[in-house]
Amino acid sequence: MVNLDDFGKSPTSALHFISLSLRRTISPPPDTRLVRLEFGTFYKVVCKSTIYESINLKHERPQTQGVKAVGVTELPVRIEGIRIRDLVAFARNVAADPAYADTSPTCLLRAASQSVNPHAAPDDFALLVAYHAGRCVGYQGLLPGALRTADGLSKVSWLITFYVAPVFRGRGIGARLVREALSLNVDLVATGVTRAAEKAYRAAGFRDLGELACRRFSVESYPRPVRWLVYALICGRLRDRWPVRPVACISTEAARGWECNTAVPRFPRCVATVNWMLTHPWVVSRPDAAPDVPAYYFSSVRDLFRFEAYEVGSATDESRGAFVLSATRRKGRTQIKLLDGFFPDPALTAAAGIVALRRARDLLAHRIEFPLSLEGFLNGSRLLRRLTRRKSRLTLCHPRDPESPLAGCAGKIRLDYCDGDSAFT
Ligand SMILES: CC(C)(COP(=O)(O)OP(=O)(O)OC[C@H]1O[C@@H](n2cnc3c(N)ncnc32)[C@H](O)[C@@H]1OP(=O)(O)O)[C@@H](O)C(=O)NCCC(=O)NCCS
Repeated sequence: MVNLDDFGKSPTSALHFISLSLRRTISPPPDTRLVRLEFGTFYKVVCKSTIYESINLKHERPQTQGVKAVGVTELPVRIEGIRIRDLVAFARNVAADPAYADTSPTCLLRAASQSVNPHAAPDDFALLVAYHAGRCVGYQGLLPGALRTADGLSKVSWLITFYVAPVFRGRGIGARLVREALSLNVDLVATGVTRAAEKAYRAAGFRDLGELACRRFSVESYPRPVRWLVYALICGRLRDRWPVRPVACISTEAARGWECNTAVPRFPRCVATVNWMLTHPWVVSRPDAAPDVPAYYFSSVRDLFRFEAYEVGSATDESRGAFVLSATRRKGRTQIKLLDGFFPDPALTAAAGIVALRRARDLLAHRIEFPLSLEGFLNGSRLLRRLTRRKSRLTLCHPRDPESPLAGCAGKIRLDYCDGDSAFT
C-alpha cells in the first residue's frame, strides 16, 4: 500500500504513487541507493516541477482553502478518550490490534513516559482517538501541564500529536477531534504546530497566547570542512570561568530557587518535570531501539537523540546553576537545543553557551537553538552574532471559560522554549 506521507519524501514513492494512479503496477525497488540513481532524473524533472507541487498540494489539502469542496461531507467517526491510567494498556493493545495497523495513535515508549508525567492525574485524558468503520483514522494527544499565575498553580492540557490519516483529511475528522478536546473543559494550549493544525485550532476558536523568540545559530549551508573551521574559530576563544559537570539528573540543591518568580505568568518546569524528561525520554537514538509500532507518524526513533544535563559550580557551592541540552540528528541534520536552564547568577548562562558550542563542535552540528537569556553571551562574539538569527514560535490557547487562569494570560505570559512537549522531541 502507498503511504501518502512518504509521497513528499522520495521520488520513488512519488513514482510508485503516480504509477498506481495510472492503474499500472511496478515492483517495489530492491535497493534505495540504486533507485535514487535510477530515478534521479525523474526527481529533477518531475518532483521539482510545478506538476509535482500541484499533486502534493492536492494530497495535503483535498479542498480549496477556506471553501468546502462540492460533495465532500463530514465523515462519521467515533471518538474514544484514553485516560492517563489506561494509557500503557491501550498502547500495548495498539501494538497488537489490526484496527491500528494503518494508523497507530501512540507507541509504548511515549505512553510509558506520559503515564508518569508529574503534572498528570490518573483521570486526566492523554489521547482522543477517532475511528471510522472500526479502524483508527486519527488522534489528538493531550499532555497535562501546569500554569503559574499570581493566583497560584492551575492545570492546562497541551495539545500534542494531532494527526489524521492522509486519505481521511479534509473530511472534518481533525475538527471533530478538536471539538472533543474542547468538551473536556480544561484550559488548552498548543505550540510548535504546523500550518494545517493551526488552521484547525483557530477554526475551533483558539487564539494567540503569545510568541516565543529564540536565537538560532546556523551553519547548515556550509560544507563539512567550513563547519569544522567555524567551530574551531569560535571554540578556540572560549574561556572556562566556572566548573561544569555532567549529571544524570538535576539535584534539588543545584536547582534551589528554580521556580521563585511568580510575578509573570508562565508554564513552570519544576525539577521533577526536568528529571522526568531526563529519565523517561520518548524519543531515542536508533541503535538503542526499534519502533515498537509500525504506523506511528510521530516517530520515536532518530539517528541520534540524547539529553545531557549539567550542573555549574562545585558540589560544595551554596548556589549552583543547572542546564539541560538535547542533541538530535534527523535526515542527516544535527541540532543542539539548549533547553531548561537555571542560573542564580545571570553570568552563569555563559557556561551553558560554552557547553552547547563545544557539544555542537564535537558533533559538527548544523544548528544550535539558544534561549533569549543567552543573548548577551551570543552578542559577545562577532562571529556568533553574524551566524545567529532570531526565530519565533507561536503559542495558541483556548481557555475553558472567561474566568479561567489562562484567560487573563494572553500577551502577558512569559513563554519558554521547553513549553508543552517541545523539549521532548
Ligand atoms: C492537521 C490535521 C490533523 C487536520 O486534520 P483534517 O481532518 O484534515 O482537518 P479537518 O478536515 O477537520 O479540517 C479542519 C480545518 O483545518 C484546516 N485544514 C485542514 N487541513 C489543512 C491543510 N492541509 N492546510 C490548510 N488548512 C487545513 C481547514 O481550515 C479546516 O477548516 P474548514 O472546515 O474551515 O475547511 C491533518 O492535516 C494532519 O494530520 N496533518 C499532518 C500531521 C500534522 O501536521 N499534525 C500537526 C502536528 S502539530
